[in-house]
Amino acid sequence: MTEIRNHDSPAEVAEAAAANAVELLQQAIELRGSANWVLAGGSSPMLAYKKLVKDYSDALDWSLVTVIMGDERMVPLSHKDSNLGAIVKEFDKNELMTKVQRIIPNTLLSAEDAAREYEASIHEAGILAFDLVWIGIGEDGHTLSLFPGNDALVLPTEQWVVPVHDAPKLPADRISLSLKAMEYIDELVIFAVGASKREVLREARLKGKLPIAVVANAVETNGGEVRWLYDDAAWESKP
Ligand code: 6PG
Repeated sequence: MTEIRNHDSPAEVAEAAAANAVELLQQAIELRGSANWVLAGGSSPMLAYKKLVKDYSDALDWSLVTVIMGDERMVPLSHKDSNLGAIVKEFDKNELMTKVQRIIPNTLLSAEDAAREYEASIHEAGILAFDLVWIGIGEDGHTLSLFPGNDALVLPTEQWVVPVHDAPKLPADRISLSLKAMEYIDELVIFAVGASKREVLREARLKGKLPIAVVANAVETNGGEVRWLYDDAAWESKP
């Protein structure tokens, strides 16, 4: 099922995403005793991370939550381009990062080895499906590190995590959850935020071939919930 929500501002999107995350993770904990949550890189979810740290750090038992990166750039954690590095800086403000369990890719390896090792750690952690996945959108329609026309999106695979090379947004070498992994998602939350995304969102709606549309479609086709969180600046193009 798809749900589309329009919010006035990025701050309201952040509040909605944070409240939704806490509710879903809590539900998973009540059901199974633990929860997992795939984090998005980029700038769009940053306000939501801040919100969680500020207002929700006692809202649930975070030690029962495993966080996973949806994609990562092949740079050290301390590098300014590290997706996880940027999140850790926020989470550490309230020790949230020390509370959660984390599955972290080894970005010092080749993308091929890192992808293989990362996928193995996800399976070893007993993760059969993702409770909650956050993603952003690039102005070219990419999401995660699945870029239009790139092998990582186009080549069929049974792998959940794939190496990415030649990404048009630098750094060029990355790893990413694959389209295959989209078959195992309970809820996908898409940050559709900012005027710079308006055009690509419109295109995604019309053509349905851009990575963001392909990913949303793959999740929904396989029975997952897809929640688009728009702010006013991006809203004109709602799917
Ligand atoms: C990455 C991200 C990528 C990101 C989009 C949107 O590693 O680059 O995971 O998919 O979500 O590029 O980025 P912004 O939110 O910064 O616009």
